Amino acid sequence: MPDRRPLVAANWKMNKTNAEAREFMDAFLPAAGELGDVDVVVCPPYTALQTVVERTREAPVRVGAQNMHEEDAGAFTGEVSAPMLLELGVEAVILGHSERRQHFAESDAALARKVPRALAAGLVPILCVGETEDEREAEETERKLRQQVQADLAAVDVGQLADVVIAYEPIWAIGTGKTATPDQAQAAIGFVRALVGDRDAGAAQAVRILYGGSVDPSNAAELLGLPDIDGALVGGASLHADRFLAIAAAAGT
Ligand code: PGA
Repeated sequence: MPDRRPLVAANWKMNKTNAEAREFMDAFLPAAGELGDVDVVVCPPYTALQTVVERTREAPVRVGAQNMHEEDAGAFTGEVSAPMLLELGVEAVILGHSERRQHFAESDAALARKVPRALAAGLVPILCVGETEDEREAEETERKLRQQVQADLAAVDVGQLADVVIAYEPIWAIGTGKTATPDQAQAAIGFVRALVGDRDAGAAQAVRILYGGSVDPSNAAELLGLPDIDGALVGGASLHADRFLAIAAAAGT
């Protein structure tokens, strides 16, 4: 079996002020040291990044942003770049989340530039892919995943493919309480791994692929126990320290 260290990431989305982020860390960090063999990444909004970086400096917890522009600097009002994140001590970045694709017109063309830029900067990109409910019903899941994975990773060198983290997030499962069944999740993630394998067999074995979409403490162990699932990207449940701890503990066993 390939040795893929599990990774659990908290996507706080547009939630938590600095005071709320501090409160979360007060509750989360005392138990975080006991989690075992799992990488834990917390992705707060930009405004709380510094707070969370400072609070996790001595802890086995890394910090990620939720988006990043592909240029280092320039006339891009409202955007934030890789060097700005690095300076704060951020180590990862979620890219291509379906909410950004849907509400902010994030395109595969932009992601094809963002993913290699993040890697070049030394940030771990957590690239999100996934199908809508209509696409699943029309049996277009594989077509959608193929299009996103191939386009978004097109400019990543084969030697760096395994440094990307991919999150398979069926859009119909995000924030709905409706998780993919273990069979659906395993099939889609196995398919994503095979797509990476079309580029490089070794990278396919090494790349970490997460499941996301209504993961909570009651379903985490079953999903995380599946052979191709290397962790979880967690939204709603990650806002509560006890629930996110329980999910991370399930990944570390
Ligand atoms: P959810 O969100 O866990 O609330 O479904 C997951 C995500 O959007 O990353």
